[in-house]
Order: sequence, then C-alpha cells, then structure tokens
Amino acid sequence: MKIMNHHSYFNYKHGELFCEGVCISEVARRVGTPFYLYSYNSLMGNYRKLAHAFSKLSPLICYSLKANGNLTLSKILATEGAGADILSGGELYKALQAGFSPGKIVFAGPGKNEKEIEYALKENVFMLNVESASELKLIEKTAQRLNRKARVSLRLNPDVEVETHRYITTGKKENKFGISFSQAKKLYEKIAKSRIIKPVGVHIHIGSQITSPVPYIKALEKAGELFDSLKEKGLNLQYIDIGGGFGISYEKGKPPLDIEELAKKIYPLLKKREAKLIIEPGRFLVGPAGLLITRVLYKKRGGEKTFIIVDAGMNDLIRPSLYGAYHQIKKLKEPGKTKPSEVVDVVGPLCETGDFFALGRSLPETLEGEYLALMDAGAYSFSMSSVYNARPRPPEVLVKEDRWWIIRERETYQDLIRGEVIPDELFSSSRNSSDSSARTFPIVSPSQQGKKETGYKGFSQ
Ligand code: LLP
Repeated sequence: MKIMNHHSYFNYKHGELFCEGVCISEVARRVGTPFYLYSYNSLMGNYRKLAHAFSKLSPLICYSLKANGNLTLSKILATEGAGADILSGGELYKALQAGFSPGKIVFAGPGKNEKEIEYALKENVFMLNVESASELKLIEKTAQRLNRKARVSLRLNPDVEVETHRYITTGKKENKFGISFSQAKKLYEKIAKSRIIKPVGVHIHIGSQITSPVPYIKALEKAGELFDSLKEKGLNLQYIDIGGGFGISYEKGKPPLDIEELAKKIYPLLKKREAKLIIEPGRFLVGPAGLLITRVLYKKRGGEKTFIIVDAGMNDLIRPSLYGAYHQIKKLKEPGKTKPSEVVDVVGPLCETGDFFALGRSLPETLEGEYLALMDAGAYSFSMSSVYNARPRPPEVLVKEDRWWIIRERETYQDLIRGEVIPDELFSSSRNSSDSSARTFPIVSPSQQGKKETGYKGFSQ
C-alpha cells in the first residue's frame, strides 16, 4: 500500500491550491465562505495508515466522534469497519445514524446521566467506560430496572505526565477523569460479584495531541499490572482500551506521533497477557483531512500592526483562541517566490479580542478578497463551532478525486431562532383574558411540551 505524506492531498497545481482533483477556490466561489472542506482520500489514508500500523494486534478502532461528528465522514469510517467512541446520548444517536454497529461502540465520559445510560444499554453498546463509583452504581441500578446486563471497563487514571496543552491532558491525578488504581481494585472486586455488571477490560485515555509514545507505555504498563492481578482474582477481562490522543503535525518541524513505533512498543505488552486492543483515535483520522476556507474581508494597519480580517471567526474554529493552537495558513492562490512576506495578525469579525487565528504570523503578501485555508482543521473545529454573535455555522464540503458534495448545508438565519419561544402572555395586557387570537406563538414552554396543558400561567414550574 502506498502511504501518502501529510498534506499530500492538498497541493498547488496551476497556481491554485487543490484538494485531490478539485480547485478549492472554485468551490469557494460556488458555496461562499467560510466553509469546511474535507478530503475523502486523506481521511481514508489516515484510517488505513493506523489500521496498518496496529495490524498485528487487530485492534478495534473506535473513531472518536467528538473530533468530528459529521454523518458522511462517520459513515465513511463505519463502512471501513471502524467502531465509535462516544461520550453522550447525542453522539450515540449520531453514531447509530451514521451506521456504526452498536457492538463496536464504546461509551466514555465522566458525566453520563441516567437517560444516556439507559439509551446505551437499550442499544446494547459494546461497553461503558466507567469514570466513578457513583456512575457504576447508577449503571447497575439502570441495568437492573431494564433487566439487562451491562458490559463495563473502568477508566483508570494512570497519573502520567503528558506534554500537551494543559486543557487537554486527562491522565493526571488532578484531572477529573478516571478512577485511581486503589479504588478501581475495590470496584472491580464488587463487579466480580455482580450478576448485572460484566467486566470487559480496562480503559485509559491520557490526553490529546500527544506526540511521544513514552506516556502511553508508562500508562499501559501500570494498567497492565492491574489487568493481570484482576485476572488472577478470576475476573474475565479481555480488552485493554488505550484511548486516543495520537498527535498530528500542525507545525512544520513538529512531527506527529510515530504510530508505527507506538504499535511496536505496545505489542509485547498486549501479547504477553493475551489482551485485545481497543484504540479511540479522533484527531489523527480527521485532523489533517480538513481545512477551513475563509476570505479576506479587510486589511488594515493599526499602530504597529497589520490586521488581516477574515470572514471566519472563533465561533467557526475556536482552537487558536482556546488553546493557543497553531494552524498553518495557506493562500489558495500560490504565492510567487519573489513576493515579500509580511508579519500579520489574522483575525475574525467577532466582537472579541480573543477572536484570532494567528498572531504575528509571517505570511506571503495577502490582499483583500483573497481566499485563505486554515490547515489541519478537520478535528475539533466544526465540532466545537457555535453560533456566537448570531453567526450561522458554515457548510461542510467533501471532496473525492474530481468530485465534491455539500455534506452539511450552511445554517440560515431561521436556524438561529429555531426552538425559541416568545411567551405571548408576556406581551399581552389582559393576563387572564381568554382571547387567544393574539397568541401567535404557542404558550407552552419547551419543557412543558408533550405534557398536558393544565392552565399554564407563568414560568414557575
Ligand atoms: N477517547 C476519549 C475518552 C477522549 O476523551 C478523547 C478526546 C478521545 C478518545 C480522542 O482523542 P484524540 O485522538 O482526538 O486526541 N478539543 C481539544 C481536544 C479534546 C480531546 C477530548 N478527548 C482540541 O481541540 O485540541
């Protein structure tokens, strides 16, 4: 199998940036900006690269939907045989809609509520990754009520140091995630006696955008020891889920996680205990496959600075604002070799100083009206978008070879007010009037919908 390099699905041809066989600025003229654009073959290539690296362990690869829950992208992975890692009822719904088989779905998250647990048990997902003693209790109670068995793994907190942004480390003891080893031991002993809870394995997820195999090995060694001692005690554990977090290269000179090396290093640790491997990659699969395309609205000089004001904002892509994340910026028009570069701040149109994509970045000369691509924006980009400042979310486009499709429409102004209810009574002078002709909107609050209307008079419930 030929393995393509990073960004090799995004190349300049005839002076224009192409995605596979499609000229991106042509798409931009058709759909308007901003928009997200994904490469089918990049996504597929990333998935195959991963599957190939870990092939000796034939892992269950559970795509982490939180990275990008788009139905088409999810379906592409589901069709390739991937499972899904989810963290909410909404993600379970989306995973099922995209065609993931419930038997390949793992459900993590420190705050699953009873409804979500019930939904997962009814759909018979493969396992719940449990993050606290109280959650385990609730799972047991819910499964009992539904007269079902619940397959679980406990999410261990291995307390390892990971070099990444402090907002996205998860495997330190001061993080809210997982259960300490000493407590996990006690809980597994309880599980061993339960007729309802079935232990499946152990789970760790130590953080995101990790570029060294070292913390994985450390965490896996710790988890492996517990796995062994629990098996000795008679628990029927089969799976070790090492989570996701595989880092990609956002910046030139900063290499991604070497997944071949990681796979090689963890191989003996799984083989010697005959454990089956689960991995939960998100970013690695979709991150490099996506771009955010935006247009330069204005260029202005303020004080010492040059600002490039673009039509995408932090509501579309919040990673630079939230984590100080770096995304390469490329012009869709290939920059000439001789044109000087300039140092600019690339900022969005929102009323927030934190609304920026790059500060003090050296870019080739960029003019008003030009298109720019924010690279590696396939993961945690659209999925973290919002409509802040009443900005409808951008559309998403998929490219495969020389064809492209809109896989999510641009939101409209109507979408911005969907579900909002203006209580007529607030604006009518006759409080107890039976004249309902003035009621243009339903007087039932969203939480009352479906319930019987029992003379609802105000907001107190
Ligand atoms: N499994 C679990 C239990 C997780 O919590 C996560 C991500 C993953 C798997 C997938 O991790 P990945 O392979 O994508 O690194 N918003 C942040 C990243 C947050 C990651 C949350 N958990 C960002 O934009 O960098």
